[in-house]
Order: sequence, then C-alpha cells, then structure tokens
Amino acid sequence: MNQRFSFYVEQHRKLIADAIKLAGKPGKLNLYLEIGAARGESLAAAMEIMAETGCDWAVLAADIPGGWEYNADALRQNIGKQLGILAGTPELLMVESGKASVCISEGGGKDVIAWMKAQGLFAALVFIDGCHEQECAKSDFEAVEPVTLAGSVVMFHDSGECDEGGLQPHLHKGCGVRSALHSLDLLPCTRMGWMLLTDTPKTQAGMTIFRRVE
Ligand SMILES: C[S@@+](CC[C@H](N)C(=O)[O-])C[C@H]1O[C@@H](n2cnc3c(N)ncnc32)[C@H](O)[C@@H]1O
Repeated sequence: MNQRFSFYVEQHRKLIADAIKLAGKPGKLNLYLEIGAARGESLAAAMEIMAETGCDWAVLAADIPGGWEYNADALRQNIGKQLGILAGTPELLMVESGKASVCISEGGGKDVIAWMKAQGLFAALVFIDGCHEQECAKSDFEAVEPVTLAGSVVMFHDSGECDEGGLQPHLHKGCGVRSALHSLDLLPCTRMGWMLLTDTPKTQAGMTIFRRVE
C-alpha cells in the first residue's frame, strides 16, 4: 500500500478510487469538490487516482482562514504541481483540467458552491470532510445537493459509529457525521434520489458514500 499520506487517507484509498471511477465520465471534464482541503492529502491521493483513470478531472476545494488542519505550505507540497490557484476569494476560482483550485475563505465550502452555482457548474464527485459536527456536516450536504446531478457521488469522512462524539474544534459539540446522515434520511437511505453505495460503520474514521440516482 502506498503510505505517502495519512493513515486516514490511505485506509480508504480503494474506496476513493472506486468512487472516482464510478463518478467520472469519459469525454467530458468531470468536477471534484472537496470541503476541507487541510494539508491537501486526500486531494493529492484523489488527483493521483484521477490521473490514472483516463477521465478528465478538474478540482475545486475549500478550507477556512485559520482552519484547524489547513496548512498552505503542506498543501503546496502535496499538490503543488496540480495547484492552479490558492485563492482567498471565491471569485478567483477556476476550473481547469488536471488542476486544483483551492479557496480559503470565511464561507469555506459554501462560498465555492455559491460560485459553482453562479457558473452553472455541477460536481461529479464530492468529498465532505470539513467540520464534522452534526449541524455542519448536515448543512454541507444540503449545500452540496443542488450542485449534484444523477450519477454524482458524495463521500462523507469520519462517519463511523465510533467517530461519534470525537473532538471537533469548531463549537466543541463533538463529531456527529453519522447523526447528520440519520437526520438527512441518508442512513437508512430513504432520501429521495439517493442510494447508499458504501458504509463502514465499525471503522474508525469511517467512510460513507452515496450516489445520486435521479
Ligand atoms: C479533517 S480536515 C480535512 C482533511 C483532508 N480532507 C485530508 O484528508 O487531507 C477538516 C478541515 O476542514 C476545514 N473546515 C472546517 N469548516 C469548513 C468549511 N465550512 N468549509 C471548508 N473547510 C472547512 C477545517 O479547517 C479542517 O482543515
């Protein structure tokens, strides 16, 4: 196993690869959106996999100023070659094949989504890995849903049963990603238009993946 990145990224490399292969469509520019860019480790792993698939991908990612794992130097080191723009304002974002455009702004992922809507862009694949408190994970999905289409895939990180309650620096309410999935009717998956692809409830730093079907 390639161990270039954190254990939490490496343990899900295969799931991420499967999601990329499922979401990417040949002959078009596919868009990957990551909420919680941090040090760029999951971004780098995803971009490595994208480069191997033969599909064309562009990447948009977000973090917040003073974000608890955000590190511009580490991010540049991890995705330097593919980093098109490290932008402080969403207006500077760009979508370019093989490039990542990372926005560090107060509104984080919501700013990037607002920009995508203004440009008429939709994400083929989304990784929700920002604040893991229940309300934040829930509102991230609610913001993401309108920029997905049938066939889009959405991945949640730290969604295992044992992740619940883990430290979160935002409002110190504890990790509640799994609770968010329940409150969104994604677990069990009865939410209109969505199907569950993968769930790792017993895994620490678990992963839960959904596909939009209509
Ligand atoms: C768990 S880390 C992300 C790890 C990264 N995806 C990886 O695996 O390499 C969570 C990051 O989300 C950021 N964050 C918190 N709220 C956010 C928001 N509203 N929008 C974007 N990022 C946010 C935090 O600052 C933190 O750096």
